[in-house]
Amino acid sequence: MDFKDVVKKRRSTRRFTGKPVEIEKLRAAMELALLAPSSKNTRSTRLMAVTNLDKVHALSRLRDFGSSLLDEAGAAIVVLGDSDASPMWEINAAIMANTLQLALVDQGLASCWVHVGKYRTLQDDPESQTSDSYVKEILPEIPQHYSVLNVVAVGYADYTPKPLPDYEGPERLLFVE
Ligand SMILES: Cc1cc2nc3c(=O)[nH]c(=O)nc-3n(C[C@H](O)[C@H](O)[C@H](O)COP(=O)(O)O)c2cc1C
Repeated sequence: MDFKDVVKKRRSTRRFTGKPVEIEKLRAAMELALLAPSSKNTRSTRLMAVTNLDKVHALSRLRDFGSSLLDEAGAAIVVLGDSDASPMWEINAAIMANTLQLALVDQGLASCWVHVGKYRTLQDDPESQTSDSYVKEILPEIPQHYSVLNVVAVGYADYTPKPLPDYEGPERLLFVE
């Protein structure tokens, strides 16, 4: 797919058809995303694909807002950062997550970023379990020294999202001589 089309086609998709997601498409997108840059080439980001639907759906409860869409997703990709490897691990992971979302578009798949970071499972309860530890409970394969930046919900879109809102160049783009 043309690069411009990939960028324009990427929209956060929160409703999926339920069609199973082919593991080879996930692998192709994940392999491309690994080419994302990292500070000092520390390569502190890891990706974990989850295709077991019980686990994908359980991830929908990682927060009590903004994560329920995982209940419909056909797969999830967990974006993990090694804070021992780089103080920039979050930025490195975010760059890879975005590259991954673009690579998924190229595979004909839709996705949505579900943030984990410093969130807790219950937004009004500062004592509630952290979303990071909730994800690690569902996926004990995650090494404890990795932190979860986000979970990318993946699937086939159930609708055609509207095009991106109009270009806001005058306020957001500056050109100086
Ligand atoms: C850092 C970040 C965190 C986000 N967290 C969530 C989230 O937890 N749940 C969700 O439904 N969407 C989340 N999104 C998706 C944004 O809501 C979405 O990108 C934004 O509304 C623009 O829409 P678009 O992606 O379709 O262009 C997140 C996006 C980013 C970049």
